[in-house]
Amino acid sequence: MRNTLIAGNWKMNGATSANDELVSGIIAGAPAAENVELLICPPFPYLAAMVAATAGSKVAVGAQNVSEHAGGAFTGEVAASMLVDLGCEYVIVGHSERRTLYGESSRDVAAKFASALDAGLRPILCVGETLEERQGEQTETVIDEQLDAVIDAVGIEAFGNAVIAYEPVWAIGTGMTATPEQAQEVHAHIRARLAGHDPVVAESLQILYGGSMKGENAAGLLAMTDIDGGLIGGASLKAADFLAIAEAAAQG
Ligand code: 13P
Repeated sequence: MRNTLIAGNWKMNGATSANDELVSGIIAGAPAAENVELLICPPFPYLAAMVAATAGSKVAVGAQNVSEHAGGAFTGEVAASMLVDLGCEYVIVGHSERRTLYGESSRDVAAKFASALDAGLRPILCVGETLEERQGEQTETVIDEQLDAVIDAVGIEAFGNAVIAYEPVWAIGTGMTATPEQAQEVHAHIRARLAGHDPVVAESLQILYGGSMKGENAAGLLAMTDIDGGLIGGASLKAADFLAIAEAAAQG
């Protein structure tokens, strides 16, 4: 059985004192269930403090982005080895905000995925379609292109140390959540696509759902066969909201 991973993507939110309050609330209320894993992904400047604050707890820490380069003259960039050095275990790659606002192509994302893996980080690869693409019945085509770019670059075995997050762009920050059935359909497609390369890797891979997930809709989504957790934006910024989702995972 796959564990359930409840991950908070704080995006560009946070401040020293607010983070301390948020993380201590999360640690204090974290469900004991061993099959529920918790992860927070704060902005770069707060990673070291959050690693220290979560030491000895069940909350892991990840970053939201990483350079495709191992090091050197790349002003403003952060190498995967630096994230490992700080104590990070995960990094999000290919979030739709990076693809859309910062022009990251699937090739760029694949390079970041590879550099994360090389350093020993577990990449969380985000994939998802826009509303226009869904309405044009392009959902599977778009997701296949996003997945294949990474499979071609790193090979299917690499997914044994990775996580995928299905984040329909139209559901991110809009309050419009995919229904459990809509999400399950895409999650099953993703797993089947990977199974076409390696059924064992596909079966053990955690596939998270992201897009307006909250306490009220988490149980329905997490009950679906191929939904193994959530990548949560807005509802990860308040301990009570994040814990409501973690609790739904623990009850499931
Ligand atoms: P929201 O939960 O705010 O919709 O954001 C989802 C997301 O983008 C997580 O990476």
